[in-house]
Amino acid sequence: MRTLAVIALKGGSGKTTVATHLALGAHLRGVDTLLVDIDPQFSARDILSARETPGPECVTSSGRNVLAAQFGALSQRKELLIIDTPAGAVEAVSEAIVIADFALLVVRPTLIDLSGLARTLMLVRKLGKACAVVVNQAPVARENVEAPLVKRALKGLDYMQAPLAPVILRSRSIYQTALERGRSAEEMTDRAAAREIAALCDFVQARMAAKPDEA
Ligand SMILES: Nc1ncnc2c1ncn2[C@@H]1O[C@H](COP(=O)(O)OP(=O)(O)O)[C@@H](O)[C@H]1O
Ligand SMILES: [Mg+2]
Repeated sequence: MRTLAVIALKGGSGKTTVATHLALGAHLRGVDTLLVDIDPQFSARDILSARETPGPECVTSSGRNVLAAQFGALSQRKELLIIDTPAGAVEAVSEAIVIADFALLVVRPTLIDLSGLARTLMLVRKLGKACAVVVNQAPVARENVEAPLVKRALKGLDYMQAPLAPVILRSRSIYQTALERGRSAEEMTDRAAAREIAALCDFVQARMAAKPDEA
């Protein structure tokens, strides 16, 4: 079993949107997946319980109990464990990072979010964990030209030597409407969002499959 922690110390960056999409994506690809929601708001649990068709299992837990949840997933012979984490709670986020094989950091392309990301990145580096950063809620590029906001954010991430995921998730209402019924954007007709999520799923799957010394 592999464990992925979806993190960002900043709230509203899109952790739950990304974590639920990755859990749904793995499920749709036949991977037996458990999502552990350790954010006391339990939004991921609410999202996945709204699903009308079979989907990834979701349990709630806390930073303190996340290791027990991982043991539970192991004994259930789950193939993938995804942890959705709260904002701001350094201790709970650290507990998730420590038990994960890989941390996915989610950031919006704004100055406030980037300074939050610098702190999250420091935490991941201090804990010596393999990681990648995915930019989320970016405006759609026009004729393949990124908006100045996104260009500046990418420059900032470059200064931080942040390892970037090979896909940027755009601000699209389909991410919100799909999750209202516990569905992934991959299950909707908007192919642009579906392509973004498929690319992120492929990337995460490849990174999770890599042995620690290859990561
Ligand atoms: N790519 C996106 N496009 C449009 N809305 C998004 C996107 N990602 C997140 N959102 C919205 O932004 C808000 C915060 O996202 P959420 O996933 O709950 O963040 P977090 O879990 O980090 O607090 C939610 O209303 C969500 O629907
Ligand atoms: Mg959340």
